[in-house]
Amino acid sequence: MTDRPGEPKTGSDKPADAIVLTDLKKQFGDLVAVDKVSFSVKSGELFGLLGPNGAGKTTIINMLTTLLIPTSGDAVIAGFDIRKDPDSVRNNIGIIFQDPSLDIGLTGRENLEFHAIMYNIEAVERKKRIAEVLSVVQLADKADTLVEYYSGGMKRRLEIARGLLHYPKVLFLDEPTLGLDAQTRRSIWDYIRNLNREYQTTVILTTHYMEEANFLCDRIAIIDHGKIIALDTPADLKAGYQGDVITLVTEGPVDHLIARLEEVSWVQEIVSGNGSLSFTVPCGEENLPEIFHLVHTLGVTVRSVSLRKPSLEDVFIHLTGSTIREQDGTRRAAMREKFRRRMMR
Ligand SMILES: Nc1ncnc2c1ncn2[C@@H]1O[C@H](COP(=O)(O)OP(=O)(O)OP(=O)(O)O)[C@@H](O)[C@H]1O
Ligand SMILES: [Mg+2]
Repeated sequence: MTDRPGEPKTGSDKPADAIVLTDLKKQFGDLVAVDKVSFSVKSGELFGLLGPNGAGKTTIINMLTTLLIPTSGDAVIAGFDIRKDPDSVRNNIGIIFQDPSLDIGLTGRENLEFHAIMYNIEAVERKKRIAEVLSVVQLADKADTLVEYYSGGMKRRLEIARGLLHYPKVLFLDEPTLGLDAQTRRSIWDYIRNLNREYQTTVILTTHYMEEANFLCDRIAIIDHGKIIALDTPADLKAGYQGDVITLVTEGPVDHLIARLEEVSWVQEIVSGNGSLSFTVPCGEENLPEIFHLVHTLGVTVRSVSLRKPSLEDVFIHLTGSTIREQDGTRRAAMREKFRRRMMR
């Protein structure tokens, strides 16, 4: 490639921060969906917004991509103010929406052509860029197949290609791998990482998946109820959460064990369900014998025990008091089903 996605099209200096939010707020009636959020994303950074359903992730993305007007506060993207210069913002960003938005009655190439025409990319340049982005996502050999016959992963890759057509400086990915199987998700991660590393494209993505945020992101903002409750590198988020996590897989009722553990001052973050009981202790090796003594005294049958360092999920529980899956509930299942149906159309 000569011009690369993410490279400045003019000789102008790249801003040090690709995205700056200042007290950004969105209110729908009485509901404050995004509550005076401030953070910045460095140029070339891969940044994640991690949070449960309804946390406000898409609302933030929609405001930053000028699809939604903020109630108050401000944001600057690639040096352009979202309120004062929305057209310049749009010219410098690519968006991959949470809900699939391809025309399945067109081929992959036709979908890209349609988008390029909307962006006023002239014919010769259009052809060149379409060939480039198809090769980035390895869909060149499927370019003339109807999208209807693409797999879910191929459709998502085509959407990523479409988001890259005008060489965005900043790429917004709202739930890039929602509803995809583990293998496809992994390959999408590789594309995202490659784009970020090879072309220095600043990427901001939203996700429910801890492992996705952990694997991909340089820094993560954990968002809950419209507020950023933590922001750091995955390693530092985990390091800031001291202790070891013990998980017991048990048989029979464990209510009495939970009640006793709750009385122990050094036992924290007790989470139970599906026959397993997890909690945090200051030092696993030292505390396990005492735990075993308690388990034995109460006559609880333990099938297996594991001891591990905290994960991002543990950090999330620590910060919000509940697991991300608990908060997902039925809405998330419904959303998955909606996504799956769309992909199959
Ligand atoms: N147009 C709207 N009108 C009214 N309420 C809205 C609107 N858009 C979003 N909301 C509400 O704002 C809150 C934040 O929604 P948002 O879609 O930003 O969450 P999210 O973190 O993206 O969730 P998900 O993980 O389900 O995609 C939710 O309570 C949602 O119901
Ligand atoms: Mg969303």
